[in-house]
Amino acid sequence: MKVSMVNNFIKEKVSLKDKNSLRIESIARFYAEPRDVDELMEAIYFADKRGIKVLFLGGGSNILFPDSNLDALVVSFSQFRNFMLTYDGVITDAGVKLPFLLKKLSDKGFGGLEFTVGIPATIGGAVRMNLGSMGKEIFDFVQEIFVIEEGIFKRIKKEDIKYGYRKGYTKGIIISVYLKLERMDKIEIKRRIKKVLYKKRKVQPLNMPSAGCVFKNPKIGVSAGRLLDEAGLKGYTVGGAMFSTLHANFIVNKGNATSRDIKELINIGIERVYKKFRVILERELLYAEEILK
Ligand code: EPU
Repeated sequence: MKVSMVNNFIKEKVSLKDKNSLRIESIARFYAEPRDVDELMEAIYFADKRGIKVLFLGGGSNILFPDSNLDALVVSFSQFRNFMLTYDGVITDAGVKLPFLLKKLSDKGFGGLEFTVGIPATIGGAVRMNLGSMGKEIFDFVQEIFVIEEGIFKRIKKEDIKYGYRKGYTKGIIISVYLKLERMDKIEIKRRIKKVLYKKRKVQPLNMPSAGCVFKNPKIGVSAGRLLDEAGLKGYTVGGAMFSTLHANFIVNKGNATSRDIKELINIGIERVYKKFRVILERELLYAEEILK
């Protein structure tokens, strides 16, 4: 498809297939990769002026795009990719990818983020969702964030953010994040990364397109994956989408899944778990259309 440029960082009709971990083919009406805050504001102004909604995109690892067109300006933070080590951690731009950050930090002897191994999120997305795994979450390490809220640049301390399970900072645009980490032996960090990866690989389909867990774990203290599994959903398939045979809370794209297949599977999951256990599963996976409302 021929992509036409609006200016040197905003494009028209851009495929999002390689920008979401579920690999759904969706076309953004406009797509911007601003290189700095000025360009970011320019992109927002561009959309405002035309009455177009804006979707801020991190690593695309927890979002479901619609089949066909997404009537929005998708703003990617991929050019916000600088980071700076401090004496006790790192200040990193929102668009830095966790696997890259993890590598850089372990090379420099900063530990803590090993739990994120295998997750293709950006740090901005991780802070928005309060990404978690292996009993840890990103807010265990966040000290401060730098954001644009109602057009104003602000520095917000962790104490002033009401974060919780899979709920981070959602009010404004995250520009950069200060994480406090632990000084650790490099070999020990690498050993921990290997251990986490080994554990995850055994129970999670890390080698297939997915968006991680689809549902949050319910408050009753039992894992959504277990409920879906016991409701007989492992391997259950609609079109190209399937509840993973390794972990029932992961929906994987077997190659040609559509957004519609995935939504149907999600509804079946909710229905079956409710029927069997009277538990209402709440989605962790975000639908692009809902963000844009
Ligand atoms: N289980 C099953 N069947 C399944 C999946 C799990 O019986 O299909 C059982 C397991 O055997 C275990 C229990 O359920 O006894 C818990 O499973 P697991 O350790 O895999 O943890 P989880 O609660 O299913 C959570 C997070 C994951 C995170 C893992 C590992 C949520 C919704 N999920 O899963 O996070 O990676 O712990 O720490 O909080 C994500 O949020 O995207 C995500 C993948």
